[in-house]
Amino acid sequence: MTEKEFIPHPYLKTIQSKGYSWSSPSNIALIKYWGKRPVQIPENPSISFTLDACKTNTSLTLSEKTAKNDLHSFDIFFENEQKDNFKPKIESFFKRIHEYVPYIGDYHFTINTSNTFPHSSGIASSASGMSALAMCLMSFERELNPDMTDEFFMKKASFLARLGSGSASRSIEGELVVWGEHQAIPGSSDLFGIKYPHEVHEVFKSYHDTILLVDKGEKQVSSTMGHQLMHNHPFADKRFDQAYTHVSDLISILKNGDLQGFIELVESEALTLHAMMLTSRPYFVLMKPNTLEIINRIWEFRKETGLHLCFTLDAGSNVHLLYPEHQSTQVYEFIKRDLVAFCQNGHYICDRIGFGAKQLPI
Ligand code: DP6
Repeated sequence: MTEKEFIPHPYLKTIQSKGYSWSSPSNIALIKYWGKRPVQIPENPSISFTLDACKTNTSLTLSEKTAKNDLHSFDIFFENEQKDNFKPKIESFFKRIHEYVPYIGDYHFTINTSNTFPHSSGIASSASGMSALAMCLMSFERELNPDMTDEFFMKKASFLARLGSGSASRSIEGELVVWGEHQAIPGSSDLFGIKYPHEVHEVFKSYHDTILLVDKGEKQVSSTMGHQLMHNHPFADKRFDQAYTHVSDLISILKNGDLQGFIELVESEALTLHAMMLTSRPYFVLMKPNTLEIINRIWEFRKETGLHLCFTLDAGSNVHLLYPEHQSTQVYEFIKRDLVAFCQNGHYICDRIGFGAKQLPI
């Protein structure tokens, strides 16, 4: 599909006022997206587990403007409090998507949003937030164009979400999502995420992700800035090739239930992401001493028990612990006994693989 296919035909209907509400999850990348070209085109394909508990709930109510023009008119509330400081981000999202959802010039929007995870947890809400908003917009578009297929609905929702935040394109569906073109993944695209189409061994269908909150402060470097640091990065091309190869490797790992292969690939991806930051100009260390403590304890635990606990990281210091359901009792004991001490205020979040965005009653 091309971008043009997402530009709608003239709408069949007009609607004066309406509201929609969606809950959309966060996701954790196994193969990381790090580096992009305009507009929001990833330099390499990425694959993620959709999460279940970490979500953004967003409602969108709209009323027809008396004067229709191309200006965007909206109010945004976070946990029922008006948040004008969120406006620039939404305004630039609306500008980017305007061509594909031209009706946004005709309405005033009220956006109400909240997260199921604490705002100051260091967990990025852009994936869940942008995907929830994209789903609300698509619900409205479907009313204007009732002939739309479910398949198109999901693709365009992911397409719009991507224009808000790249990783948001992977939060529409579950349980595994691929974003970025790859020869071995039929239907994969740089424009939107798709459900992982190949066979997945049972063991990966109920994976846990316990997120250890090592540092709940503001991130030192935003993802947007981090992506930019991949331009002229000395290792960029090799990294993009490696991610491409890793996607091929993951296909057989997922099919065969190869837990050892999974651990090696996922941990290598996490450390490579951070290695890219360590070797960029300017350079950054986003891991904290406790991040490394946790990593070392995981390695010791694996050596002692032979259990299949591994970690991944996003662009921060928090640690995502990934492990299979059938080993969760022992792993959870270990987390409580040995790892919680390294979390800020002992805080962590128990999450697991999920199934994507869900519509809520308004
Ligand atoms: C390290 O999707 O947050 O989490 O497209 O600029 O909004 P923007 O970036 P974002 O980058 C995510 C980076 C990552 C890896 C990943 O999720 O694949």
